[in-house]
Amino acid sequence: MIRHFLRDDDLTPAEQAGVLDLAARMKADRFGHQPLAGPKSVAVLFDKQSLRTRISFDVGIAELGGHPLVVDTQVTHFGRGETLADAGRVLSRYVAAIVLRTHGDDRIAEVASHATVPVVNALTDDYHPCQLLADLLTVRERFGATAGRTLAYVGDAANNMAHSYLLAGATAGMHVRIAGPVGFQPDPDVVTRAAKIAAGTGGSVRVLTDPVEAVRDADVVATDTWTSMGQESDGLDRITPFRPYQVNDALLDAAGPDVIVLHCLPAHRGEEITDEVLDGPRSAVFDQAENRLHAQKALLTFLLEASS
Ligand code: CP
Ligand code: NVA
Repeated sequence: MIRHFLRDDDLTPAEQAGVLDLAARMKADRFGHQPLAGPKSVAVLFDKQSLRTRISFDVGIAELGGHPLVVDTQVTHFGRGETLADAGRVLSRYVAAIVLRTHGDDRIAEVASHATVPVVNALTDDYHPCQLLADLLTVRERFGATAGRTLAYVGDAANNMAHSYLLAGATAGMHVRIAGPVGFQPDPDVVTRAAKIAAGTGGSVRVLTDPVEAVRDADVVATDTWTSMGQESDGLDRITPFRPYQVNDALLDAAGPDVIVLHCLPAHRGEEITDEVLDGPRSAVFDQAENRLHAQKALLTFLLEASS
């Protein structure tokens, strides 16, 4: 059976823990793993902009002994009628795995349903599961484990990062609190799914509107841009309702004494997070960005082994 990674809950709790264990080993022995030797090729396709995802997959595939093919889809036939189903079929004849950043989740599901190699979600409108593996690896490094820790995400609670925090955090046994203004709340189906996962892992899920209540005594405070890719001209006022959710020193006063701060980047400094916090002692943001590399190397290794 081909294993895809389209949503955070495509990995069971045991599989997620195994990938994070492997990521930690790969980080400690960075050039010691060559499962893509041959080299096997991996296609990494972008319908949207990227810095971290693009470079970390390119570098990671090369470090695994493989051949990365990073493609901006504007130069392909995607925009002029080639179906995603055909793209999935054709690419499967060339490469060992397909990594795709795109818009709607229906698009990546279409590729996956016709691919005969693993397909990895490198961000869609609704999920960013590779980012969450990096975030969880960072939490493990700082606290020794994820289970039982409280993670508060404040800001745009309706976006891809909020949904992935719900699913991946619950899978990791964390107590996940998601806080955003009315009108920017998570998809109720995702909340229900996360709560079901949490019931089996000892975690929990809460959706709130009060950012101070959300971060109270939290171990991890996370945020993300208030304006995701593609929302720049949606006409919504994304500043006024979000202002109380800014991650600043005053908000962090309510958090736990050893709190760490996460942000997937790119940051809009002065909007969802202040310079003082992002550059300050509680920030784990640059370890988090580095961990994209190690987590994705482990993920690709797992998916290829599990699919063979
Ligand atoms: N965090 C993240 O996915 O960054 P990029 O958009 O730069 O890839
Ligand atoms: N929510 C952001 C994440 C960027 C990595 C976006 O989709 O633009």
